[in-house]
Amino acid sequence: MIRVGIIGLGMMGRCHLEGWGKAQGAEVVAVADADPKRAAGDLSGGWGNIDAGTELIDMDRVTGTTDPHELIAMADVDVVDVCVPTPFHAELAIAALEAGKHVVCEKPMARTAEDARRIAAAAAASPGMFMPGMCIRFWPQYKWLKDIVDSGAYGRVLGATFKRMASMPPGWFGDSEMSGGAALDLHLHDTDFVQYLLGMPKAVASCGYSKTTDGVDHIVTRYVYDDIPVVTAEGAWCMDAGYGFNMSYMVNFENATADFDFSRGDEPLLLSTGGEKQVVTCEGSDGYEGELAYFAECITAGTPPTIVTAEQAAESIRIVEAEIASIQSGAPVSL
Ligand SMILES: NC(=O)c1ccc[n+]([C@@H]2O[C@H](COP(=O)([O-])OP(=O)(O)OC[C@H]3O[C@@H](n4cnc5c(N)ncnc54)[C@H](O)[C@@H]3O)[C@@H](O)[C@H]2O)c1
Repeated sequence: MIRVGIIGLGMMGRCHLEGWGKAQGAEVVAVADADPKRAAGDLSGGWGNIDAGTELIDMDRVTGTTDPHELIAMADVDVVDVCVPTPFHAELAIAALEAGKHVVCEKPMARTAEDARRIAAAAAASPGMFMPGMCIRFWPQYKWLKDIVDSGAYGRVLGATFKRMASMPPGWFGDSEMSGGAALDLHLHDTDFVQYLLGMPKAVASCGYSKTTDGVDHIVTRYVYDDIPVVTAEGAWCMDAGYGFNMSYMVNFENATADFDFSRGDEPLLLSTGGEKQVVTCEGSDGYEGELAYFAECITAGTPPTIVTAEQAAESIRIVEAEIASIQSGAPVSL
């Protein structure tokens, strides 16, 4: 049995609690949160743009603490799952890797690319495995897209647009020094997926503005490739409070168009080819379950994750930093 300790029991900690519950051969044995109520298993009163799962942990089989370093030191914890606000990722992930634990760390892997590279170096030196929680790489309809692009089934990609739009999340997200603004916290998902799907762009050209924080709250980026004419992603968390959340993509191949819209209920993914439109059904429910099940498989097999690595996640943060620099300078930034 893989014994998991989760640090941070907010929206993502709750969601991971649910995900580990479904991962084969894994069990949550410890939790840590700076808030004593949450450390004692009462997770009521959080925020969420997804259904984050349980509000009450059965603490009979789980040790709770308000000190994350106490959890990291627990001999019966094999995997440390870092779900605290972004600025604390580097310190806790590095401490857990230095203690020889396997570590999964929520995205963004760190507040800066430099901190992410420090985690990557600690992971390289640790007997523990490390996986950044880039859940979109595991999200069924995005996974499907990656497979289709790699297979070449419908020819080359000519145009790809990704979109992730939301109302402002509450609490520490509003402090752009902590969260990195929508550019880092939200739009990173699509930046990372673009890198995963199409490789490192030559340059980025971005525009954006601040509305709900003093960081970049709405960003549109063109990713420049020699051989793909249109690659863009738009991300925002400053839509009106009534908007909620949505993510989507439109990818135009030589011989097909893939159209994903999360808000389209039971038929989010449509594929048009040869003049016919069909609904595509993908297995799996979300990327959180997918990524945790995969990490559990990697640990059981003793083979480090390859679907996403520390180095790739650090590179995605470097791209976002270039996007922010492009907004500030008004000019494209080479990578
Ligand atoms: N993958 C995704 O789609 C996704 C979605 C939302 C958030 N996130 C990321 O997950 C991380 C957590 O976000 P969240 O929405 O769960 O935040 P949250 O505010 O809902 O929860 C954070 C929790 O961490 C606790 N905490 C804060 N500092 C701590 C510390 N130093 N030690 C121990 N506990 C501490 C808080 O008490 C709180 O319970 C962030 O990095 C965020 O960017 C990822």
